[in-house]
Amino acid sequence: MRGIVLIFILYWYGISVSNACGKCTFYVALGDNFSIPLEHKNLREHDELIWKKNSETVYKKKKNRVQINTTVVSSSGSLQLIDLKMTDSANYSVEVHDKNGAFLKEDRKCLCVIEKILSKPHIQSNCSKSKLTLTCSVKKPNNVKYAWLKNKKEMKENTKTLIEDKKKLKSSDTFSCNVSNEVSYQMSDDIKCPDDKLLGLDFWVMVAILATGGGLILILILVLVVCVCRRLKQNKDREREEEELRLMHMRQQAHPPRPQEAPRSHTAPYTHPQNGEDYTPPPPRPRGKRPRPPPVPVTDEEKPPPRPKPRQSAPRHNRT
Ligand SMILES: *[C@@H]1O[C@H](CO)[C@@H](O)[C@H](O)[C@H]1NC(C)=O
Ligand SMILES: *[C@@H]1O[C@H](CO)[C@@H](O)[C@H](O)[C@H]1NC(C)=O
Ligand SMILES: *[C@@H]1O[C@H](CO)[C@@H](O)[C@H](O)[C@H]1NC(C)=O
Ligand SMILES: *[C@@H]1O[C@H](CO)[C@@H](O)[C@H](O)[C@H]1NC(C)=O
Ligand SMILES: *[C@@H]1O[C@H](CO)[C@@H](O)[C@H](O)[C@H]1NC(C)=O
Repeated sequence: MRGIVLIFILYWYGISVSNACGKCTFYVALGDNFSIPLEHKNLREHDELIWKKNSETVYKKKKNRVQINTTVVSSSGSLQLIDLKMTDSANYSVEVHDKNGAFLKEDRKCLCVIEKILSKPHIQSNCSKSKLTLTCSVKKPNNVKYAWLKNKKEMKENTKTLIEDKKKLKSSDTFSCNVSNEVSYQMSDDIKCPDDKLLGLDFWVMVAILATGGGLILILILVLVVCVCRRLKQNKDREREEEELRLMHMRQQAHPPRPQEAPRSHTAPYTHPQNGEDYTPPPPRPRGKRPRPPPVPVTDEEKPPPRPKPRQSAPRHNRT
């Protein structure tokens, strides 16, 4: 009970101190103009008016004569401050007496000049698996308040750092922070849980890398297969040609002239246009520009030759 009374007394004291300008009555932005009002109606021409800045008299009018005039006072008696400086922060007191010196009004106002927040705040985010942590920062963080907006609606959080449960968030949820002081505020850009984006990006980058990598390897394998097949075929062809040449020689030795009949009598004209060597090639066929051995199909450039087929059937026989 005593504690409560003490708190109450302290609270009262606090209020009375603030009334005596422990707190700022007005917050004004640096560089602005401000008029401290004289809250006294019917100021008459012959009234005595004194404005003090702290203990220094800045304006004094008595018996309709301005005696001190370092600050402009309007006809209504309010103090006109122009282009406020930090040094204009002060307790301003005013006294009004009538022409006979009778007390009419006394007042005290505390003016606080502060800088506007000029820079836009920036949100630093950390989006882990379970929670989203956002930190709002601004260039001059002195005496600023923080407020958070989720989907443009103000939240109740007012700390520099906001921590949200990821389970309660939608991927479309946006956050922004409002940094303010008594004379200004600045909003950050909207931010989403950025790791989702990053993860998505990584995923697609991975897919792209895998796709191109896989494609390249596939192409490489295909090229290799084609090369190997061609080389095998060429070797085979050469072997056959050599064999044929040998046969031809043998036949020529047996029945000297008629060299043209020899290839025709054989099953196929095994020859390449390039390495026809020293035997005359068979007459050109009407169908193909490049004569090929019959067992190799026209599409042999893309596919391996049908050579493996008999081999395939052989193991099947073995298994059954
Ligand atoms: C303050 O008042 C002066 C003169 O009365 C004027 O030139 C100036 O633009 C005003 N400044 C602001 C910020 O309103
Ligand atoms: C206050 O002094 C300035 C010059 O410093 C003058 O221009 C102005 O008229 C004076 N104001 C009054 C109310 O006398
Ligand atoms: C105004 O006066 C109070 C005490 O009466 C003091 O605590 C406060 O600092 C003063 N304010 C300024 C801006 O000088
Ligand atoms: C993000 O938060 C996680 C866990 O909350 C922490 O381990 C990590 O260090 C933080 N990363 C950054 C860059 O702050
Ligand atoms: C930002 O905060 C200030 C001070 O609380 C308030 O006046 C202003 O309306 C807020 N702005 C928005 C967009 O919420």
